[in-house]
Amino acid sequence: MTDPSDTFSIAVIGAGGKMGMRVSNNLVKTAYRTAYVENSPAGRERVVAAGRELTDAADAVSDADIVVFAVPDLALQSVTGDLVPQMKPGSIVLTLDPAAAYAGLLTTRPDVIQAVAHPCHPSVFLQRETPEQWADTFGGIAAPQDAIAAVESEDPAVQAIVEATVRAIFAPVIDVHWVTIKQLAQLEPTLVETIACMIGALLKESLDEAVNTMGVPEAAARSILLGHTQVALANSLRGDNPFSDACLIAMDYGRESIIKDDWKKVFRDDELDKNLARMLHLERIER
Ligand SMILES: NC(=O)c1ccc[n+]([C@@H]2O[C@H](COP(=O)([O-])OP(=O)(O)OC[C@H]3O[C@@H](n4cnc5c(N)ncnc54)[C@H](O)[C@@H]3O)[C@@H](O)[C@H]2O)c1
Repeated sequence: MTDPSDTFSIAVIGAGGKMGMRVSNNLVKTAYRTAYVENSPAGRERVVAAGRELTDAADAVSDADIVVFAVPDLALQSVTGDLVPQMKPGSIVLTLDPAAAYAGLLTTRPDVIQAVAHPCHPSVFLQRETPEQWADTFGGIAAPQDAIAAVESEDPAVQAIVEATVRAIFAPVIDVHWVTIKQLAQLEPTLVETIACMIGALLKESLDEAVNTMGVPEAAARSILLGHTQVALANSLRGDNPFSDACLIAMDYGRESIIKDDWKKVFRDDELDKNLARMLHLERIER
């Protein structure tokens, strides 16, 4: 098959935002014809300072085979409402988070394909070879990462275009994993924001407690926490070593003291809807 970057054009909406700048920095390294759209003065300045030319939304969207909507989730309803009607038949709407798509907030058209993609970020177990890879914790610069994608089309040609785009915007990418939009919402926010990021923030709060309330020297507390965080992840997620018998007892005490018995409810559909409604500032999700 021909490389889609030779033949397809992309519009990035919100090109001066956090993700817009990241995906644009990667798209300039490809052969895609790319148009950059941004409406805030600060964002427009960032696009121009990066050496990229701005295009009007109407021109960019009517010409694009793929429109990457890198605008805030709270703006996706109105922005897709404005721009999706101006897209070419057969073109692809690509959003970078499943929340608004799963909540049914995006303007859709029978002749426009809906796709969502999200970067996995580089794994904690990634074998990093260079200082640039070590520095790139977010991904999209030097450290290889996987990406998750969902596309509402069975057409392998459409999937190939989405995959090529995802590989380009989040480069370097190892694997693209295909799921449904609902599964992507079960992964993100539930698995990785509601649970993993919350536990990361809890670790930071615990460190502050040991240092500020208990008075343990910060260097000691930070060092033992970071080393044990690696051991906790390697033992639990990769089976590297068994936890010691004493550690297992301390882990049980932690679970009983900290975790609610019904915590797995966060994966239920009604709880996912509640979570998304909070994120999207809605009373409720109505599908
Ligand atoms: N920030 C992250 O770490 C991250 C990671 C993965 C996915 N995402 C997803 O990426 C998307 C963008 O998030 P972000 O954090 O980059 O947001 P952001 O607020 O940093 O940037 C959004 C940009 O869109 C611009 N914008 C808003 N409305 C516009 C319009 N009508 N036309 C043109 N430009 C417009 C804003 O001016 C801003 O520059 C969201 O769907 C988010 O969930 C973000």
